[in-house]
Amino acid sequence: MASMHAPWWRAAVVYQIYPRSFADSDGDGVGDLRGIIEHVDHLVALGVDVVWLSPIYRSPQDDNGYDIADYQDVDPLFGTLADLDELIAVLHGHGIKLLMDLVVNHTSDEHPWFVASRDDPRSPQRDWYWWRPPRPGMAAGDPGAEPTNWRSFFSGPAWELDEASGEYYLHLFSRKQPDLNWEQPAVREAVYSMMRWWMDRGVDGFRMDVVNMLSKDPTLPDGPVLDGGVYGDGSAAYLCGPRIHEFLHEMHEAVFAGRDPVALTVGEMPGVTIDEAVRFTDPHRREVDMVFQFEHVGLDHDGSKWSPRPLDLLELKASMGRWQHGLAATGWNSLYWCNHDQPRVVSRWGDDGQHRVRSATMLATILHLHRGTPYVYQGEELGMTNVAFSSIEEFRDIEARNHYASAIERGEDPEAVLAAMTHHRDNARTPMQWDDSAHAGFTTGTPWIAVHPNHTTVNARAARADERSVFHHYRRLIELRHTSPVVVDGDFTMVLADHPHVYAFTRALGAETWLVLGNVSGAPQDLDGLDERDVWDRADVVLSNVEGGPQVRRGLRPWEAAVLRRLG
Ligand code: NOJ
Repeated sequence: MASMHAPWWRAAVVYQIYPRSFADSDGDGVGDLRGIIEHVDHLVALGVDVVWLSPIYRSPQDDNGYDIADYQDVDPLFGTLADLDELIAVLHGHGIKLLMDLVVNHTSDEHPWFVASRDDPRSPQRDWYWWRPPRPGMAAGDPGAEPTNWRSFFSGPAWELDEASGEYYLHLFSRKQPDLNWEQPAVREAVYSMMRWWMDRGVDGFRMDVVNMLSKDPTLPDGPVLDGGVYGDGSAAYLCGPRIHEFLHEMHEAVFAGRDPVALTVGEMPGVTIDEAVRFTDPHRREVDMVFQFEHVGLDHDGSKWSPRPLDLLELKASMGRWQHGLAATGWNSLYWCNHDQPRVVSRWGDDGQHRVRSATMLATILHLHRGTPYVYQGEELGMTNVAFSSIEEFRDIEARNHYASAIERGEDPEAVLAAMTHHRDNARTPMQWDDSAHAGFTTGTPWIAVHPNHTTVNARAARADERSVFHHYRRLIELRHTSPVVVDGDFTMVLADHPHVYAFTRALGAETWLVLGNVSGAPQDLDGLDERDVWDRADVVLSNVEGGPQVRRGLRPWEAAVLRRLG
């Protein structure tokens, strides 16, 4: 249990590693654990406190490891348990903690639990998953005979028929990711025992995949039909379902209570509301330490990520501000623009051309100086950009490929479908750009997904050698969180809330107030509406991303960020 007073992770910064794309040590084209060990110096130079490691468990890799076939072993693709022990030891030697990715809403269909469940309907493990007969009055396999109308997150129905038993099993994600039935105490006990095993092995906590989906309304009701189609949105039955708080509290007591040192638990929670987030992260309730919520990354598309629209900065500020206020007294939030499921932020909300460095550093500045725990996703600290794929063959992600296939099946125009796929997840999954050599120093073999052509200029070697790079700006932001209590605990107040292009807020603690300014546009912006502009004009400069530093009286240059400090 995290202490009630100033838990360590409030002043920490988390770095997410997507192992498949980080560094390949053995030339098979896929990143691995030894590749991470070889690059720990990068994390140390950046100054991060925690690594969140995306899944390295045994897995058929249908969803790049988020489909786990053995929770207590490392996939040979990534190395061995001994490599993982070594990674933990090396990280700990540098004072860096390691979070495992806990994926227990579902397993792989190749996990022995599911194999037993499917192969023998009388096995005790049958009910470890959600098996249901066809809809009353319909035969197995009939169109629409699925037990509910739910659509899977990866397109098509959320149910797959098992011909042998004539029953369907639920899979909210791919058909190779059957959902575990958390109503079964034996499922919960098996998961907690596996988590204790990892804690005993020396990991420092867990990032918990779609953890607010664990509890489902066992009546499994149909959901409202989506976009005039055949499938429905079942989320009311599985997002923050009836027993979710009970399960997370139980998990806390079974795994973390009484342990020393303190573990960190991060709940990935799509669709979570602020009120629910407060409940999940209220330390007295002993559920999880912080949520990872999605409201802000859902603002630049209509309903589905495949219908993108431009970001309205006013909406972003309103959303971020609501979360800052909602969790100000109780609870804690994660701060992120990027992860392995999101497009690269410099391409998404910045300018990945002429103003790449300035817009990436501006976006980093406004994010990191909110209240919460910031997350850096590998390559974000280099200002890595989205990729421009010209054909579906270049995609690797099951989500994108399935979406494309179903859209084509519905008769949509292939070019239009592809053109709308700007928010795809492979943007984040191109290999880490270490240097300007053939495969960016990622591998000596053939990379599993194309390396971004801009690695000749955007790469870690170049960035670390340049004091004005995106890398060094992130390093300074991380240092500010470590050294400035106002960044960790200061009150947050949004200012210029109605300004359509400037993101501005203050943080205040004791006698100290900081003003954070970001121009989220490629045009100069004045700061005429800013209270006490002349005072701020004379204030100390904490951080700037422009030559010569800020000049508040004159306004902000394109994509400029400025952090100012005053006493009183
Ligand atoms: C959320 C993960 O971040 C994503 O990558 C994965 O596909 C789904 N959960 C299913 O595990």
